[in-house]
Amino acid sequence: MCGIVAAVSHRNIVPLLVQGLERLEYRGYDSCGVAVHSQGLRRARSTHRVSELMEQVSTEDIKGYTGIAHTRWATHGVPAVHNAHPHFSHGPKVDASNSSEGRVAVVHNGIIENYEEIKTELESKGYVFQSQTDTEVIAHLIDSLYKGDLFKALKEALPMLRGAYALAIFHKDEPQRIVGAKSGSPLILGVGESETFLASDAMALAGVTDQIVYLEEGDIVDVHAQSFIVEDKLRNVVTRDIKTVTAHSGAAELGPYTHYMQKEIFEQPRAIADTLEGVKGVVPDLFGLNAAAIFNKIDSVLILACGTSYYSGCVAKYWIESVAKISTQVEIASEYRYRDSVPNPNTLVVTISQSGETADTLAALKHAKSKGMKHTLTICNVSTSALVRECALSYVTRAGVEVGVASTKAFTTQLAALFLLTLCIAQAKNHLSVEAQDQYLKEMRHLPVALQAVLALEPQVMRWAEDFVLKENALFLGRGTHYPIAMEGALKLKEITYIHAEAYAAGELKHGPLALVTDAMPVVAVAPNDALIEKLKSNLQEVRARGGVLYVLADADSKIENAQGIHVIRMPEHYGLLSPILHVVPLQLLAYHTACARGTDVDKPRNLAKSVTVE
Ligand code: M6R
Repeated sequence: MCGIVAAVSHRNIVPLLVQGLERLEYRGYDSCGVAVHSQGLRRARSTHRVSELMEQVSTEDIKGYTGIAHTRWATHGVPAVHNAHPHFSHGPKVDASNSSEGRVAVVHNGIIENYEEIKTELESKGYVFQSQTDTEVIAHLIDSLYKGDLFKALKEALPMLRGAYALAIFHKDEPQRIVGAKSGSPLILGVGESETFLASDAMALAGVTDQIVYLEEGDIVDVHAQSFIVEDKLRNVVTRDIKTVTAHSGAAELGPYTHYMQKEIFEQPRAIADTLEGVKGVVPDLFGLNAAAIFNKIDSVLILACGTSYYSGCVAKYWIESVAKISTQVEIASEYRYRDSVPNPNTLVVTISQSGETADTLAALKHAKSKGMKHTLTICNVSTSALVRECALSYVTRAGVEVGVASTKAFTTQLAALFLLTLCIAQAKNHLSVEAQDQYLKEMRHLPVALQAVLALEPQVMRWAEDFVLKENALFLGRGTHYPIAMEGALKLKEITYIHAEAYAAGELKHGPLALVTDAMPVVAVAPNDALIEKLKSNLQEVRARGGVLYVLADADSKIENAQGIHVIRMPEHYGLLSPILHVVPLQLLAYHTACARGTDVDKPRNLAKSVTVE
């Protein structure tokens, strides 16, 4: 989703700005642009990749000491050059002397909800809009309020804006100054040697500076090359800590792989091993210093997340209720944040997120806190993210940078962390015997080896993928902890192959979806040999009886055999409670190989962004 990089320096800043955009490419975007102060404002914008923007700035010889750059993920207005940021205000039309020269340049991440009313007002003052974006109103609004001090104009403008924003803005009359604001969208400040930066995340500045200030909600900043001033939401000047942050560049090497998604699927044994590296036992401190006291106090768990992270939460619900014996709810963050729910101050609120910047999850956390739920914990893949900063407790998964939009290794590492959380809560509630604890830890440590064996099934999954290439619909079935795995399998398939896929708890089949089953509808079943296997087998019979073709992931002892219309892949070993971590892998591979055969953009599927920082 949108990415911002901005800088005030004493050297030509354009190459750094564009390289910063390259590091933010992983977030997903459909256009990009850069603007600099160069005896007036100049800009280059493109609907192609950042690499082409780089060529454009060099061909047009765009250079400057002060500049802002942006990758856009369209919300208001189609992806087109005129909608790409930075947006300029040229002043009102009546001001003929300035009609062709840019006066204010703005980049924005977020959504301005009341942009239409502001636009009408500005149009009545003679401002002419060049784009369909909500962002352009900010440029004109600042221009209309500007009286020689950009920071002052920003302070007057912000109370008029409703919505979410991270902003970086400069003015032609103040060549060595950028101002910024953060409310609901991520923005950090980077302190370099005689230069200062703003960016969406520290990764944008990897290799440029590791001195990072995490701006807080409502902060505004006045940025100069050698100094900066932060004001908080009450407009008091505040000192924010400068942290040393080692950010990894997003440009991870592909190595022998064709796509990042493929690489990330195959990295899962390593990712799980790294995530569990420091785990010597069931020790609450792994989640933070106060964790033991909190786990003792709580009487329920509320999990909040979106997309794939939500599905890992759904698996955890089964685990926590059956092992730790405390009531657990899982909610889609975008629903919870607006729902009139009943708060319980003794609930542990668990947010799950790869990025730690997902707007809905952050807002759901804020909502829970505002209702008095102060026991908060996050499971997150980015140690410097907003969710880690906002939660009292955290467990940082060590999947490494995930570039593919389709989440894979983040999901399995989340599950590993959630299982550990389950054990810690179970221990606090006296539901974990020493023997059970040892057995679970042994199984967790064996996961990397077990995952390798599952990855070796790839050739068999590729044969399934050949059958899926020409399909337009697919059904995924599972029961118990494997129902969320079926949901995750369907999500993977739809997001990168564009095949319509639905997941059902298999027991629900005859309550409606069975009507969809014909020989044109492949039905994928996740069938480990658990307590529900006989029930699931009956459900599969219902599918076969209607001509549906089955693709079954079965354990060796499930007693489900290959037959006419039944394709079976045998999972290498039966894995008990941790089995969801293994069963999801063939489903990731199925989506991946089907997408390759259909020729879609596997790592950057249409319409999707890696990091969803707007609502
Ligand atoms: O960064 P998060 O885990 O909070 O992201 C949540 C979802 O946007 C994400 O899981 C999304 O569903 C993925 N594209 C799924 O592959």
